[in-house]
Amino acid sequence: FIRVPDRMGSQNVLFVLLLGMMNPLYPISGTASSRSDDGSSPRITLHRPFFYFGQTYNQIYVNHNGHLTFQSPWSATTPQRFPLNATKDIIAPFWMDLDNREIGQVYYNQYTSGSVLQQATRDINDYFPSMNFNANWVFVATWYEVAYYPNSGTRTTVQAVLISGGQFSFVLMNYGIIASTSREVQAGYDTINSIHHFIIPGSFSSSATGSNSIFRRSSNVNLPGRWAFRTDEGSREFKSSTFPVTIL
Ligand SMILES: *[C@@H]1O[C@H](CO)[C@@H](O)[C@H](O)[C@H]1NC(C)=O
Repeated sequence: FIRVPDRMGSQNVLFVLLLGMMNPLYPISGTASSRSDDGSSPRITLHRPFFYFGQTYNQIYVNHNGHLTFQSPWSATTPQRFPLNATKDIIAPFWMDLDNREIGQVYYNQYTSGSVLQQATRDINDYFPSMNFNANWVFVATWYEVAYYPNSGTRTTVQAVLISGGQFSFVLMNYGIIASTSREVQAGYDTINSIHHFIIPGSFSSSATGSNSIFRRSSNVNLPGRWAFRTDEGSREFKSSTFPVTIL
């Protein structure tokens, strides 16, 4: 319990505590990708295999335009609506033309021990109860305060968190400050031949960005700014899209 001298002070402390509890972002850290428009990280070797709807991946690319791909880097700038019916697995927390040449950084990090694994274990057991889930690997990609193309001076922060444990895998999409733009954004994921795909509601709409960004205000797990999906093949029976959507 925190003792504070006056009434105003205690309200501030409570406010700060609540903000901390409601922050959807995982720790922002790791290797910074190059400063290059439409670029990608080098091939990143995963310390544990990641299961994604029937595929098993040992590598990933963090693409600067707000998406992750596994087989090869991908520079696609303008979002195309899922399903693409293509031969590509795509995890896209914020697909649009971003530009990290001057402002912001694209970070990636992976964990096989420590507090981030504990946080992931807690979160997944909370969102997907009675699976007895134990995270043994977490990968975090953060597009941190990255500008919209071309070097527009805006700052937008979004995150994709990949979580593995046993035969299960999950993806979280976390939203920080989303700068306003009139351009279209898609958030969601797609798979080879689009057998599984999902678009976060509000994608392609004018409410996707800005201080009232719907990605920041909505959730399928009751934490504004966070979306959680089960992404191993078990999702055939357990559809993430059947979650109630909360808009606060
Ligand atoms: C993929 O297939 C669906 C269903 O046939 C179709 O509605 C959609 O337009 C296709 N997407 C593309 C990018 O061709």
